[in-house]
Amino acid sequence: MLRRSLLNVGLRTKQHAGTQSAAAGQSAQFPRRQQRSRPVSSNTAMGDHKPKSMEELGGPSFMTTLYWLFVKGYFQTTQQMQIEHSKIYGPLWKSKYGPLVVVNVASAELIEQVLRQEGRHPVRTDMPHWRGYRELRNQAHGPLTEMGAKWMRIRSILNPRMLKPKHVSSYANTINEVVTDFIERVAWLRENTGQGVMVNDLTGELYKFAFEGICSVLFETRMGCMEAVVPEETQKFIVSVGEMFTLSQIIVLFPKSSWPYLPFWKKFVATWDHLFKVAEDLVKKKMEEIQKSAQLDQSIEGAYLTHLLLSEKMTLTEILGSITELLLAGVDTTSNTISWSLYHLATESKIQEQLYQEVISICPGDKLPDSSDITQMPFLKAIIRETLRLYPVVPETLASLSKMRLWWEIIFSQKRRSSTSVTMPFCPMMKKFFPETQRPSLPQRWLSRGGDDKLKQHPFGSVPFGFGVRACLGRRVAELECTSSFPGL
Ligand code: HEM
Repeated sequence: MLRRSLLNVGLRTKQHAGTQSAAAGQSAQFPRRQQRSRPVSSNTAMGDHKPKSMEELGGPSFMTTLYWLFVKGYFQTTQQMQIEHSKIYGPLWKSKYGPLVVVNVASAELIEQVLRQEGRHPVRTDMPHWRGYRELRNQAHGPLTEMGAKWMRIRSILNPRMLKPKHVSSYANTINEVVTDFIERVAWLRENTGQGVMVNDLTGELYKFAFEGICSVLFETRMGCMEAVVPEETQKFIVSVGEMFTLSQIIVLFPKSSWPYLPFWKKFVATWDHLFKVAEDLVKKKMEEIQKSAQLDQSIEGAYLTHLLLSEKMTLTEILGSITELLLAGVDTTSNTISWSLYHLATESKIQEQLYQEVISICPGDKLPDSSDITQMPFLKAIIRETLRLYPVVPETLASLSKMRLWWEIIFSQKRRSSTSVTMPFCPMMKKFFPETQRPSLPQRWLSRGGDDKLKQHPFGSVPFGFGVRACLGRRVAELECTSSFPGL
């Protein structure tokens, strides 16, 4: 859902990850020195090395884009549309979405140039609808919606316990408990609803697994998703997440001034209210536990939320804002990746066998791997990596042009317009960057030792977690969840 939502918002403002969008609105008066140097590299998209003006850049008109989206049916698969467009227009083209002009960059070399020039406070999108809710209800922005120096402050507080390997490995036991319950649940479902064989809705089950996993890390509590009957409140929360993402896709298509009059705006606000309410209840519960332990002079143990509360670097409202956004970013991303990895394993028996041999050599019998075991399973990691190449959950990243003056100047010889974004679609599935394969997958390409050098490609051909200071905050936890779930399954 995050993926879809991001893609969809990308249609308007090209928000989040994977594609780089250049934030518009800044005057493009470049310093003379830069203008003179104009270092057009020979590997840019401009074959003749001459900067192109916006007018010279090819691409579909607004009507053509609408035709592609709604008549040809690419609305849900805009990444596929971009692949098709790159075949028609080359690695650099512009698309129009009403008043918004988006520059698409489909070249690993150019993507590298953009990503390397992001500056200290990259901007992905202004997420106007999400920010609109927060302003309406006086809620704080989290890492997804915050910008500038405020965003940097949030990241500096959230990063250590999410990204430092020693902290992340301390979540391994928590995740393993969820994995054990998930494996039991899958067995129960097969027995009771699938005639001993089938799990009827594996995607839905993996969603619950990812939800339970991330909640157990963030809130240090179990939500009951692995029980035979999922508690009503938890089920309602999951439904609200889905509704919020679905409504987000629609709301961004309308101008901000019209939102209060839209019939579904109220619903959108109500779903956010529910998400914040549930998160608030969980945070309050944790605070009470901490207070009780403090009164009894007991040592206070906990992980992510406990740390945030005890560190007192954020207000309660800020913690709520951040933790809710972490939760939203951390469910379907992980569950989709596990789904696709399982699909590939199911269809590629050789790879499945190779993985099986790796797993049983490190964890014989029913032993679930701990974090040190996982480090000894390079093939498992390579499978996840290859899945993320073939099915990137966030297939585009947006970057802010404001921090990319040089890059912008390389590409265009004129001032950018206030409504221009630059979007960098994924290259991972483009034959040009990974010519040998669509299917079968080739996880071997990601093995640092024993991998086939011929299969290795441009490092910016596939950047599933983004790059730089604004890269994925949950990357390590996601990797832990994905890798921990496989050996047991
Ligand atoms: C396989 C799973 C995942 C993938 C492929 C993924 C991918 C990404 C990508 C590509 C970005 C954008 C990076 C950029 O803009 O340069 C991102 C951002 C983000 N991700 Fe993930 N993600 C995953 C799981 C998670 C999890 C589990 C969490 C939460 C624990 C999470 C939290 C976030 C947050 C908060 C951001 C926004 C960071 C910011 O703007 O500062 N992600 N993710």
